[in-house]
Amino acid sequence: MSPTSRHHLRPLNQPVKLQNVLYEIRGPVAARAAQLEAEGHRILKLNIGNPAPFGFEAPDTILHDMIAALPTAQGYSESKGILPARRAIVSRYQEVPGFPDLDVDHVYLGNGVSELIMMTLQALLDDGDEVLIPSPDYPLWTAATSLAGGVPVHYVCDEENGWNPSVEDIRAKVTSRTKAIVIINPNNPTGAVYSQEVLTELVEVAREHSLLLLADEIYDRILYDGARHTSVAALAPDLLCLTFNGLSKTYRVAGYRAGWVAITGPTAHAAGFLQGIDLLASTRLCPNVPAQHAIQVAVSGHQSIEELLAPDGRLTQQRDIAVRMLSAMDGVSVAEPRGALYVFPRLDPEVHEIRDDERLVLDLLEQEKILVVHGTGFNWPAPDHLRIVTLPWGTDLQAALERMGNFLASYSQ
Ligand SMILES: Cc1ncc(COP(=O)(O)O)c(C=O)c1O
Repeated sequence: MSPTSRHHLRPLNQPVKLQNVLYEIRGPVAARAAQLEAEGHRILKLNIGNPAPFGFEAPDTILHDMIAALPTAQGYSESKGILPARRAIVSRYQEVPGFPDLDVDHVYLGNGVSELIMMTLQALLDDGDEVLIPSPDYPLWTAATSLAGGVPVHYVCDEENGWNPSVEDIRAKVTSRTKAIVIINPNNPTGAVYSQEVLTELVEVAREHSLLLLADEIYDRILYDGARHTSVAALAPDLLCLTFNGLSKTYRVAGYRAGWVAITGPTAHAAGFLQGIDLLASTRLCPNVPAQHAIQVAVSGHQSIEELLAPDGRLTQQRDIAVRMLSAMDGVSVAEPRGALYVFPRLDPEVHEIRDDERLVLDLLEQEKILVVHGTGFNWPAPDHLRIVTLPWGTDLQAALERMGNFLASYSQ
């Protein structure tokens, strides 16, 4: 008998807790793209908000400080992250209304915002607790809520109303199990930047129902046309608010995995939750230490993102190309993004009869070798949207959208 046939190996099935955990941005369509690449095809990847592959280089000072720190960054750090980096975060927020008394002990560093989102929801939720999450959303929020045993409850953002959250819908969806509301501003995937008035209304709902505020503000400095960003924390000094941010987008070092969460507002009622965050920060030992050394230099001094966002800056120009070309397509409309790195166009169902939007993006990939993400991957209920990143150089973006326009003109399901 051969050693391999001696034992019966028990099947290792996917655990039930992963059933509702989805991340389509790197899902089956992206896997098919990887296969096509392995076969020698060149795929234009417009699916991930990853600036570096599109020639957005990090400021030299960031690389310099990280390289200089390597010899002394071999050991674990404090679980929350190194003190100079956390102090730099406190200084960064001194200029931002809403964080006047931010305590350095209330800043936690993470391997990207992603890890901190996971930790927060694990520390917060009992089975069946509900979290209000926008639809469309950045899908990690939904996935992390499900994984933590919670129930994601999606509130509608209204395309007709500049993709602003519907406060009416939020109010209708609050229950006795609702623990928190997630606000993604500037928004991924819609590019909406919420006004102070809209945010005030959202905070008021949180106040009335004693909800924890989870503010994902990773794009707070990626704003177009002079749009102004208001931090949720500024409007809610009387509520517990966790503000998430990091180096991935504004500083173009998504691969370094450096993020933070800043905790503001009253904490006495939330000792258990905050001890849970401490516990989970300890169990992950610490965030990647070399990348922590990039934080201080990144957040202080010259903010090179501003050049990219000027009217003639690369990011603005690319956003303009995407909006112009999509709007010119038959049966396609798009709300102009005022922040972040994406467009989320609508395919009019009267013109484009799409029943399965994942099928659509797969067909686009097979035929045109262009990879985008279907709208339902962002917990949007109808198969009538796509998300496209606006990171490629204008000429590449233009060529890709031309091909996409031709593809859509003759596509049917
Ligand atoms: C809204 C939003 N939040 C969080 C993240 C995760 O970022 P990080 O690279 O810091 O994990 C992203 C990444 O695309 C994002 O778009």
